[in-house]
Amino acid sequence: MKKRLSLALQQDLKKNLLKVKSDSLIIGVNEGNALNPISSKIDQATNGVIKKLAKRKEFEGKVGQQAYVAAPEGLSAERLYLIGFGKSKDLLSNEDIDKILNSTISSLKSSKSNNASICFPSLKYSNKSQNDSWLLQKMATFFENRVYTYDAKLNKKNKSVNRLKKVNLFLESSLSATNQRKALKTGQVIGQGMNAAKDLANLPGNICTPSYLASTSRAAAKKYAKLSCKVFGEREMKKMGMDCLLSVGNGSAQESKLISMSYLGGKKGDQPYAIVGKGITFDTGGISLKPGAAMDEMKFDMCGAASVIATMQVVSELKLPINVVGVVASAENMPGSKATKPGDVVKTMSGLTVEILNTDAEGRLVLADALTYVKRFKPKTVVDIATLTGAVIIALGYSTSGLMNNNDKLAKDLLNAGQKASDKAWQLPLWDVYQKDLDSNFADIANIGGRAGTITAACFLSRFAEDFPWAHLDVAGTASYKGAAKGGSGRPVPLLSQYLIDKA
Ligand code: BES
Ligand code: MN
Ligand code: ZN
Repeated sequence: MKKRLSLALQQDLKKNLLKVKSDSLIIGVNEGNALNPISSKIDQATNGVIKKLAKRKEFEGKVGQQAYVAAPEGLSAERLYLIGFGKSKDLLSNEDIDKILNSTISSLKSSKSNNASICFPSLKYSNKSQNDSWLLQKMATFFENRVYTYDAKLNKKNKSVNRLKKVNLFLESSLSATNQRKALKTGQVIGQGMNAAKDLANLPGNICTPSYLASTSRAAAKKYAKLSCKVFGEREMKKMGMDCLLSVGNGSAQESKLISMSYLGGKKGDQPYAIVGKGITFDTGGISLKPGAAMDEMKFDMCGAASVIATMQVVSELKLPINVVGVVASAENMPGSKATKPGDVVKTMSGLTVEILNTDAEGRLVLADALTYVKRFKPKTVVDIATLTGAVIIALGYSTSGLMNNNDKLAKDLLNAGQKASDKAWQLPLWDVYQKDLDSNFADIANIGGRAGTITAACFLSRFAEDFPWAHLDVAGTASYKGAAKGGSGRPVPLLSQYLIDKA
């Protein structure tokens, strides 16, 4: 995984504040008359810049507020940025901290800085489970994630110059330097994982095919001794009885692939945690063709797969002492003379037959056989990740992933991990009343039914997840951005990584 930012802890930064020769010096300033030791030192050296700004009410140190001093006299740094930290006695919420980090990064990006030094005062957290280690991890993820640019397919002259390369960081904290560094490392690796997922998401459908996902996974396995990868093509899947998965790719010239990655960081017999991703590299809807508007966004229909491939790399890079299996079910959903038609009946690997009433409900078809496949690993838990339904966007919007499950402990752990990692999910019910929506006159189950689209999709998956604790994340709204910021978001790599870190 590519590291885009050199991020280092600099413990003597506070002592050398005036002598630091960075392109930018960024300090945290508290609200109120008494300046904290960091800002008071800067204020004195700069002939009272901070107090003057406060007097003019241009910068008072309110949470997330920013101010810019172009060529601060008395400092060796080229630019000075002030970031508001609120009153020093106030407890900061998750949202407050997000505001602070957003302001910090937007300051950095608006300047032409190659390198920056960041000096932050100590914080008090409103959430009891948050601490400095959590903050440093979060900062590192945030910074690495936010220096990302995608220009892989641009002409050389149009490639962006990603200016920010180096950040030196000081946080006033009682945490040991070793533990601070560890938190930064963990956070940065998660950020790199998000960026790896974004790279896959952003590649166009004509390049990022099922075979491309397979070769990316193989290349990752080559890099890490404890990570291995096996790829099954259509012939092998046919032999395993995966007709349901294969039915999705029938109309496509691209060969469907089942990718099976295995990370052995724990003891040999330890039951693995399994993550399973939907890897539809383009979803036209098939014969149940989608409308044309914004159809290009269906290249993001492999974001579940991208999050699995990236999380396997995060786990390998962090050398977590657990076993993890990552499975990707990949196909391209196209219309054509060989394509599956509405009304066709296919047999799944589990033996259940499916009446395909809508070929656009294809994600569940590839996942059904992938879920049956992971049974052989006797997994401790199974989490599938899929851009499965437009309906989840109606229910939860673009900020929150949908969570459905057959095991409450697993759900609690995932919700918790999402909360911690600022990659939140919310649970929807998977009650029996919804299951009958999938009744079919012609097969064991239909692939669509009912009005609660996100829940019935999960009901379909649940039929193939009866033998293990299982949860399903519907990330159709969260895995990519629309509009001007169109592109992969890197989610839910933070949630998945945090879940596995918590298990290690
Ligand atoms: N990949 C789509 C879901 C999707 C929609 C992802 C919007 C991202 C943004 C999925 O395969 C799909 O087409 N689902 C259908 C299901 C329907 C036919 C029951 C949907 O949501 O409309
Ligand atoms: Mn679809
Ligand atoms: Zn789809």
